Amino acid sequence: MKNWLEVPGIRAALERKEVQGFAKGVLTNDDRLFIAQPIVRNGQLLGVLRMSITLQQFQRQFAIVIWTVLGTLVFILLLCTFISEWLARSLSRPIQTMKNFAIRLGSGHFGDKLQIRQSNELDQLALELNRMSERLASLDQERRAFLANVSHELRTPISNVLVTVEALRNGAASDPAVSDRFFQNVEDETKRLSRLIGDLLDLGRLEAGVTLLEKQHIQLVSLIKRAVRAVETRLQNSQISVQVNVADLQIQGDSERLLQALLNLLDNAIKHSPPNSQILITGSKEGKQAVVTIRDQGQGVKDSDLSRIFEQFYTGDHSRKGRGVGLGLAIAKRIIEAHGGSITVSSKVGEGATFTIYLPI
Ligand SMILES: Nc1ncnc2c1ncn2[C@@H]1O[C@H](COP(=O)(O)OP(=O)(O)OP(=O)(O)O)[C@@H](O)[C@H]1O
Ligand SMILES: [Mg+2]
Repeated sequence: MKNWLEVPGIRAALERKEVQGFAKGVLTNDDRLFIAQPIVRNGQLLGVLRMSITLQQFQRQFAIVIWTVLGTLVFILLLCTFISEWLARSLSRPIQTMKNFAIRLGSGHFGDKLQIRQSNELDQLALELNRMSERLASLDQERRAFLANVSHELRTPISNVLVTVEALRNGAASDPAVSDRFFQNVEDETKRLSRLIGDLLDLGRLEAGVTLLEKQHIQLVSLIKRAVRAVETRLQNSQISVQVNVADLQIQGDSERLLQALLNLLDNAIKHSPPNSQILITGSKEGKQAVVTIRDQGQGVKDSDLSRIFEQFYTGDHSRKGRGVGLGLAIAKRIIEAHGGSITVSSKVGEGATFTIYLPI
């Protein structure tokens, strides 16, 4: 350089001013951006620093920055798309599975189970679906068992009647002793059939909630006395005594229905009581509930039967020789539950059974 002062920016920098600008190159004849700055230490000017860059270089740098920014943006965009796609998929997959599961349930495949892995809201939903599937499966099972039992219980008396009638027609009627027995048989079976159909209708109505309870104030003592009066002849015939020990309580309910429930319980107590034994009926108030217990001194209920005797058609004596079909307790339970109450049983084999009814006052 012959004359540094001619270089743009140097003179100003020597005058301690910072300069930046645009000028032709010092050695080359290209367009450049420059900056010139004084170097001052302790108030003393030591020299000047001048730097320049060609426009081309600058543009190249600039382009690199622009492309880097753009590239990063595109990369982030793609990453976001990928992540949201992945999230959406991982959310929609279980929903899809549940949808298919619900469709299978709807088409009658009960009892299937969904796999549950994590513990978020979707798994809660899966848990509920599993529970629903289980419940539907057991209801379906109950329905089949019910139908099988109904047809069995209906067929037996009908075929008995048919066989007896046939025998009567084929000559049994000529012997008065035999024909009497056969007619008695037909009468018994027909009664049994009509009772069974009545029970089934009751059960169906209670189940469907069609039975409207005609609620009124009932004196608990008089209700229980009515029930005892209704079975008085049977009690006398079997030489069973009844002790009633009921507090003066008023409850709300449908007296006819409650009577039916009590009669079913009394019927069982009488059936399972040995001669010369006693049935004890108590009634008391416990908090906001009326508690009625019916205790007999019969053979009691086996532990294995305790949890099942309230099921429809469940009878303890599997031989089915007894006359019961196993609907009495099921009906009693439904009547009491329709009143907002509950019924339990406790028993030890050989020491009788105690049925306890809880009814809201
Ligand atoms: N007091 C009782 N003592 C012993 N076992 C009982 C007693 N009450 C009920 N059970 C048992 O519970 C079963 C179910 O009773 P439930 O009243 O429902 O039917 P059932 O008496 O056999 O027939 P149904 O009442 O329809 O004539 C009975 O078969 C019997 O084994
Ligand atoms: Mg019964």
